[in-house]
Amino acid sequence: MCGIVGAVAQRDVSPVLLEGLKRLEYRGYDSAGLAVLNHDKQLQRIRVQGKVNELKQEHQASPLKGGTGIAHTRWATHGKPNLNNAHPHICRDTVALVHNGIIENHEQLRTEQIASGFEFTSETDTEVVVHAVYEALQSTPDLLQAVFTTIKQLKGAYALGVINNAEPDRLIAAREGSPLVIGVGIGEYFIASDVFALLPVTQRFIFLEDGDVADITRDKLTIYDSNQNIVERSISVSELNADVADKAGYRHYMLKEIFSQPNAIAESLVNRTNDGQVVSNEFGQDAESIFQQVKAVKIAACGTSYHAGLIAAHWLEEIAQVPCQVEIASEYRYRKSVIVDNTLFVSISQSGETADTLAALQLAKKSGFLSTLAICNVAESSLTREAELVFLTHAGPEIGVASTKAFTTQLVGLFLLVVAIAKHNGLSNEEEASFVKQLESLPGRVNQLLQFKDDIETMAKDFADKHHALFLGRGSFLPVAMEGALKLKEISYIHAEAYAAGELKHGPLALVDDDMPVVAVAPNNHLLEKLKSNLQEVQARGGKLYLFADKASEVESTEGVYVLKINAVCDFMAPILYTIPLQLLAYYVAVIKGADIDQPRNLAKSVTVE
Ligand code: G6P
Repeated sequence: MCGIVGAVAQRDVSPVLLEGLKRLEYRGYDSAGLAVLNHDKQLQRIRVQGKVNELKQEHQASPLKGGTGIAHTRWATHGKPNLNNAHPHICRDTVALVHNGIIENHEQLRTEQIASGFEFTSETDTEVVVHAVYEALQSTPDLLQAVFTTIKQLKGAYALGVINNAEPDRLIAAREGSPLVIGVGIGEYFIASDVFALLPVTQRFIFLEDGDVADITRDKLTIYDSNQNIVERSISVSELNADVADKAGYRHYMLKEIFSQPNAIAESLVNRTNDGQVVSNEFGQDAESIFQQVKAVKIAACGTSYHAGLIAAHWLEEIAQVPCQVEIASEYRYRKSVIVDNTLFVSISQSGETADTLAALQLAKKSGFLSTLAICNVAESSLTREAELVFLTHAGPEIGVASTKAFTTQLVGLFLLVVAIAKHNGLSNEEEASFVKQLESLPGRVNQLLQFKDDIETMAKDFADKHHALFLGRGSFLPVAMEGALKLKEISYIHAEAYAAGELKHGPLALVDDDMPVVAVAPNNHLLEKLKSNLQEVQARGGKLYLFADKASEVESTEGVYVLKINAVCDFMAPILYTIPLQLLAYYVAVIKGADIDQPRNLAKSVTVE
């Protein structure tokens, strides 16, 4: 989703801005641009409908030189992805602005501004903001005051970077609901949507809070809170390296991330278990006493993280015997729900910036839950700063838009949570030790599954010319099937649906023919025989079956049935493991189709608008 970079420095800032945009590409975007104030106080701008590399080429042909600038990758919400709608937006050659978020009252502001004589060059909601700043500057020469006046008029979410040609060494940044960090350099400051953008220039970051406005010059930074009082915000030192976003020889980030799962899972377990026990304090200092009181769990998340929640619900009810409800965050935030006493609210997010998940957490904090927990992969994200308890998955940065290692490490975090709660609900020390052992065996087992890559690559050839695919599962493997279907549609653009296998004959069976491959996850559990019957129903209709099955499940490859046999595994760990071949399947199908795997069309890694 939209990415912002900005800088005030003595050096020419264009290379920093362009590199920053390149590093934000993973968020997803469709157009890009930058504006720089040159040494003659003139605003210069380049925009492209397309990729940052095209912006770089245009910049190479006519470089923009200057020490103050802002840049942007746009993910279209209001108005098509075209040149006119690309940011930065400029008003009367005076003010330039980049924006991430949605201005909800833009129509009303637009009408008023048109009546006042402003001309609009784009269909965006953003353009009203740049005109509002210009208008405010007619009553005050001070850009900070103009931004204060402007944001009072705005409804919605925004992260803003604003520059003005009358004050060439000044950049004003503002945040409300959309992420924004300040990079602290030596005699220079930067802004960006996340730290990755700025790692080549600094390791020191200040995370703005909602309502903050930052007044930034080369050697001075002043931050105001929503009441316009000066506030101190602490500096965090990032431990990430600038080369963290390297593909390490893999063809795509997604493949690298799939293959780094043994390590990501191992990292996510470090210090989280001790001597056969789960270390509850890893969720926060008060976690132990909170977990003792948990009588129910409510989970809210989006996309892949929602699927992780669905799997965890099975674990919670079976292992911890605690009722659990899982909700899509965008639904939960707008509906009235009943909260049972002592319910723990859990939000799951790889990015920690998903607008709906964040809003669900904010709502939960006001709703009388026992406590709130965020399971997240980004330490200083909005979600982790909002939640009372935090569990960080240590998956390392995930660049591919389709989530892989973030998902499996979320499941590890959720399993630890389940055991930590179950301890207070009758789980014996022996059972806990056995679960810990199973968790510790995961990296090795994931590694074994990755060795199936050639088989799955062969299997993928059958899918590449298909338009639809059906994924089946039962119990905790239904969300695994849902995740497999989501991966396939995200990156290969094949329409894929997941169904509870028992529901097959209530509708989707009508679609089954030799043009509709059916994928099923068939671990050797108490539902296997039921699943086998469902699969017969598919076979009888000429459907081609692709089965990921336990070695002991006694299903064999035959005409129209391709079985990939997986080593026996404890039923609770199996959802984590069966996800791996489904990720590989989606990946290889997308490779054969020549799709843009790391940045699939229309999708964004970090969905900061609702
Ligand atoms: C986007 C991403 C998905 C992700 C979802 C939720 O759609 O492309 O990969 O699952 O957002 O994101 P979150 O960061 O909250 O897990």
